[in-house]
Formats: sequence, C-alpha cells, structure tokens
Amino acid sequence: MKYTVRKFDAVIVGAGGAGLRAAIQLSEAGMKTAVLTKVFPTRSHTVAAQGGVAASLGNSDEDHWHWHMYDTVKGSDWLGDQDAIEFMVRNANECVIELEHYGMPFDRLDNGRIYQRPFGGHMSNFGEKPVRRSCAAADRTGHAMLHAMYQRNVKVNTQFFVEWQALDLIRDAEGEVLGVTAMDMETGEVVAFHAKATIFATGGAGRIYYSSTNAFINTGDGVGMAARAGIPLEDMEFWQFHPTGVAGAGVLITEGVRGEGGILRNSLGERFMERYAPNAKDLASRDIVSRAMVTEINEGRGCGPNKDFVLLDITHLDPETIMKRLPGIHEIAVQFAGVDCLKEPIPVVPTCHYQMGGIPTNYLGQVVVPQGDNHSTPVPGFFAAGECACASVHGANRLGTNSLLDLLVFGKSAGETAVNELKAGARTHKPLPAEAIERTLARLDRLNTQKDGADVHETRLAMQRTMQKHAGVFRFKDMLKEGVEKILAIEQDVGRTQINDKSMVFNTARIEALELDNLIEVAKATIVSANARTESRGAHVRDDAPNTTEHPNGRDDKNWHKHTLWYRENNRLDYKPVQMKPMTVDSIELKTRAY
Ligand code: FUM
Repeated sequence: MKYTVRKFDAVIVGAGGAGLRAAIQLSEAGMKTAVLTKVFPTRSHTVAAQGGVAASLGNSDEDHWHWHMYDTVKGSDWLGDQDAIEFMVRNANECVIELEHYGMPFDRLDNGRIYQRPFGGHMSNFGEKPVRRSCAAADRTGHAMLHAMYQRNVKVNTQFFVEWQALDLIRDAEGEVLGVTAMDMETGEVVAFHAKATIFATGGAGRIYYSSTNAFINTGDGVGMAARAGIPLEDMEFWQFHPTGVAGAGVLITEGVRGEGGILRNSLGERFMERYAPNAKDLASRDIVSRAMVTEINEGRGCGPNKDFVLLDITHLDPETIMKRLPGIHEIAVQFAGVDCLKEPIPVVPTCHYQMGGIPTNYLGQVVVPQGDNHSTPVPGFFAAGECACASVHGANRLGTNSLLDLLVFGKSAGETAVNELKAGARTHKPLPAEAIERTLARLDRLNTQKDGADVHETRLAMQRTMQKHAGVFRFKDMLKEGVEKILAIEQDVGRTQINDKSMVFNTARIEALELDNLIEVAKATIVSANARTESRGAHVRDDAPNTTEHPNGRDDKNWHKHTLWYRENNRLDYKPVQMKPMTVDSIELKTRAY
C-alpha cells in the first residue's frame, strides 16, 4: 500500500470545540495548520452540548472564580488537580467573552448581558446555594459555539481535511511525536501528516457503552491512538452517567431543564432528590443524581410498565419560558419520548455521557508521562485538549457546563503552548521513522486480508453490552472481575475483525473496524482501572467499598487519593499523586462530599 507525506507546522485531530479553539490560536499566529475531522466541523459532537458553558461572570447572581474552583474540586470528589482547576476557572470569563467577540449568539438578559442559568453542583459562597453560572444560547449552546469558532477559523485560513480518519500517532525512537497517519474516506488514500506539533482533540468514547448520549462518531480515536503509541491513560475508571437521557433512546435532555426549575419524580409523584441532597436537591452533582435515580428504580419506585425510568417534570413551568429557553428539549421530548413536555413529564434514565479520564496533560495542554522521578514529563510535540484529554480538572466527576469550559480553556492553552514552542524554534520537522508508517499500513493490510474473522458489528455490540452490564452506574466486585475477563476475550476478536467490502471509496465498513480498534483500548483501560480501584469516589461506586466513618461514602483517601495510569502493554497500572496545590490560593482540603 502506498502513502504520501504532507507537511504542516501543526496538525490537529478533531474539529469539535477543543480542536477549533486550538486551531484559532495557531492560525492567528500564522502557523500552517491542518485540522483532520471525521465529519464536517459544525457536526462534531460539541454540537450536542445543550445547557451552557460555566463562567463566574456574575451577571445574575454574585459570583467568584474561587467559588467556581471550590465547586469543581468538590464535584471531582477531590481527584481533580487544583493547579489545573484554578487555571480553568480563572480563564473562564476571558474565554467566554472571546467567544462572544467571535460572534457567539448567547441569550441575553434585559440589560444586554449574557444570560446565565443554574446547573448541578455550581453554588455560591463555597457550597451555600445554587448560583446562575452557566452562559447559555437557549439549549443549543454547543451548536452556536461550533458555528462561531468554525467561522473564525475560516477567517484565519485554517486548512480543514473533512471526512478524514486519523489512524496512528507517529512517534520516533526518542518518543517525540511527529504527526499522524490518516485516511481520506472519500478515496481511501493514506497520508502521513508530518507536523512540528500534533494536537489531539478527538472528543470522548461514550460508544464503549450500549446506552449513550454520545454520537456514533465518539469512538475514542485519539485515546486509542495514544495508547497504541505507548502513552498511559489517566483515570479511565471514571465515566459520567448523565441523569436525564430519554428512556429507551439515550438522547440528552439538558440539565438546564432542572436549572430552569424542572423536577425529578418517582412513581409515587415524590420529588425524591429532597431525600438524597436536601440542600441542592435536583441540582446536586450528576453522580449523586444518577445514583439516586437508579436507587429509586431498583427499590421499585420506577415508572412505566417495567418500572425502569423516572420522570422529569416541567409541567409547572411557564410554557413561554420553556419555548424560549428550552425549545430543543420540547422538540426532543416529542420526537424521542412521544410526549409534549408542556403537558406531560419526560421519561428519563441515567445514560453514559462523558469520560472524565483520558490522555494525561498539564494545564498548558502538553501531554505528560512519568519519567524517572517526574510523573509529569511533557512528550515533545504532543498536545491534547477537550474530552480526550485528562488535565485533570474533572477528577472523579465532572460538573455540567465545565466540559465546554474545559475545551475552550485547554484548546486555547494547547494552541498557545504549541505556538510558543514553534516560535522559539523548539520544534522542527524531524525525519519520519519508516516503521511508524509501516505499522499503519500493516494494520490496514491485516484488515484487507483477514479471513474467517470476527464480525465488526457483533464484536462492538458484545463490548458495549459488557461495559454497560459490568461497569455502569453502580459497580460490583465480582461483575468487574468478570467484566475484565470478558473484555480481554472480546479484544481477541477485535484483533481479527473482517470486512467483506474491500472497496476504497467511502468504505464505512473499514472505518467502523478501525474505530473499533480504538474503542477496545478505551474499554480495556476503563474496566481494568475500575477493577483495581477498590474504593468509591465520584462516579465510581463499588458495592464492596466499606462505607464507614473512616471512609464516608466508601471513599478511601489513605489508599486511593491518587490518579490511575493504565498502560496498554500487559494492562499495567501505575499511580501518580493528585496535585493539591493550586496556582495562587490555598489548597481546598479533603472533606466529605455532601450536597
Ligand atoms: O445537561 C447538559 O446540558 C449537558 C451539559 C454538559 O455535559 O456539560
């Protein structure tokens, strides 16, 4: 198989929020920048983000970045790195205003300022009461954001490669990253993108689960490529289940619905969150709300013929406000749940939504790995931002609307760091190692010649069902152990997938097989890391974690207040300390988490 080489200053993989924001930084600085994307940029999964982006603008309530920082640390169940968290919340206002200047059509208050709504876990005055912090464009914030940033990229001449599948990271013998190999889906042509800086912004991998709010494109491509290139993955056991996916369909119903006054009810009509989170109620953080919902269902207070969902009720709200602030939700409820939410509640269940872990980075967007005594040594030439990266600001549980903030802040800082390195002459086009490209070609060749292999669809389904059953909202010791064995067996099938259609032009069967190579890395990292972590923290809750005064909620700080690092080779696990020291303020010390 032949390939060609194309040279750029920077190559960015992914054109969602993080990729577009990084690209603006590079192109504005005059760097020749290529963005590879599987779908047209404005169709990236950021488009699905509904409720808003967090920033302590204080347009409706008094607010402060330090309060936002406290909420984020607490939301992370103290697993987030406090330097990165401070960096993110302190840069929030500037990033949101920048976006406004790019033309983002935020909703407005009567005084012309950006509209802000409450969201789960965002509180005033270090946890006192809900605060309006989420800057929103109705319930289509991600959609508006992508359009604003895509237009800005067009203005600054970013070069887009649309409908390209990135295949493998190119690393040389010294471990430097020199670009990626990729395939043009339209022709099947393979190209090595040779770059001085490579930025992964490939989004999440929610498709490892059977029920997910994630788009079909969310196959963890960057995470899989990094793992195959020897980069460890951080904190992959932590997956967020969004409380309100439409029952049976998985489609997201924004938390903004509860921010606008929506209430969760069980089959008795009871507002059950009052029992689980007396202060924040329906606006407690997502892990808490999701577990409360599953507990209600498990204890027989679910709704419907099978008692397997709860209800999200907004029938008491003003219909005009719903149609103004939540028009998309009204439409989703009709299309996917068959209900008019002005008159009837929406059936909802927790659904896989977000990966808290990913490729380890620092707050400058540099990918970091342990080397000698330093557990965070930058990998030369390699950057990551957004959901595929682990900065780590979300720790064990992300707060809603901190994801759009993460991709803006760290997309920008990854781009900025790359620009600084390029301007300083620290990065050149080092020679491409032939073996790296041959590895990609061998992978493609294996797929083209595989006989008596495994079916891609069936193998993916087996993986998704296993992950759903063995690593869901609640986790059980024996199920996790069994889940590891099952996923490792499924991995054998992934290694022998077969495609019947060998054509080169828009062969989506080949693309799906290549995507599965990435998904399985994410699934392995998740279940192996989850099996090893014998405590409960944030979104990772195990039946066997002792819930005692010493270990409230099953959290075991003595043994487990540390980040997991999973290596693909032999499924090896390592750990590194949580950064408790912020940049300028005092540490937010460990305490029991309650809302
Ligand atoms: O509920 C939502 O609108 C989702 C937001 C988020 O995941 O941050």
